[in-house]
Amino acid sequence: MLVTGTDTGVGKTIATAAIAAGLMAAGATVEVVKIAQTGDDDDAATAARLSGAPARCLASYPDPLAPSAAARRSGLPALKLAEAADAARAATADAVLLEGAGGLLAPLGEGGWHAGDLAVELGCPAVVVARAGLGTLNHTALTLEALARREVAAAVVIGAWPRRPGPAETENLRDLEGERLGRIPAGAGDLDPEAFRMSAKDWLDL
Ligand SMILES: Nc1ncnc2c1ncn2[C@@H]1O[C@H](COP(=O)(O)OP(=O)(O)O)[C@@H](O)[C@H]1O
Ligand SMILES: [Mg+2]
Repeated sequence: MLVTGTDTGVGKTIATAAIAAGLMAAGATVEVVKIAQTGDDDDAATAARLSGAPARCLASYPDPLAPSAAARRSGLPALKLAEAADAARAATADAVLLEGAGGLLAPLGEGGWHAGDLAVELGCPAVVVARAGLGTLNHTALTLEALARREVAAAVVIGAWPRRPGPAETENLRDLEGERLGRIPAGAGDLDPEAFRMSAKDWLDL
């Protein structure tokens, strides 16, 4: 399963950890793969710490940019689509969660391939992590349309549902009701791992 988003910083890593923990609580084995990491963050380590699932990263680059640009600037080799697909196919867990970088069409590697290309190559479904507030209906619709035209099945997870939702969040939730929907509470990423793992399945429609 691809875990993508409407943008960078929408909560993909926390959502990946929650999906991993929810599936593990249901008895499945899970592996997390961060496709490409840029900058100082370590999303694989964050997902592993919160969920307890093994996690690894296929390529990392120092500049906090889209991976293809970060590869260009670093002089390190850009990741090939076939390498990412092979790594996903080699995983032996019941579920393999592939976290992209940035939004769906952000260029990840050699030739500018993106997470949508990887989902097509693998024939796997996608989870779109979206913001809760104003602007998310457009970003979510654009992302779902791009997945639908590639025949990639998709569900939506709101990355950080506020403790006190305002009218924009409440109405967005109504408008997204037709989608298969999850909602991760804001602050979930700050829970201790045990509490995170106990609650994760309640946040998702697994
Ligand atoms: N549900 C949440 N609870 C707590 N913090 C969150 C939550 N969702 C996102 N964040 C915070 O927001 C920032 C972006 O989240 P992250 O999962 O790294 O986004 P992405 O992977 O899409 O770039 C991080 O600092 C993260 O800790
Ligand atoms: Mg992330």
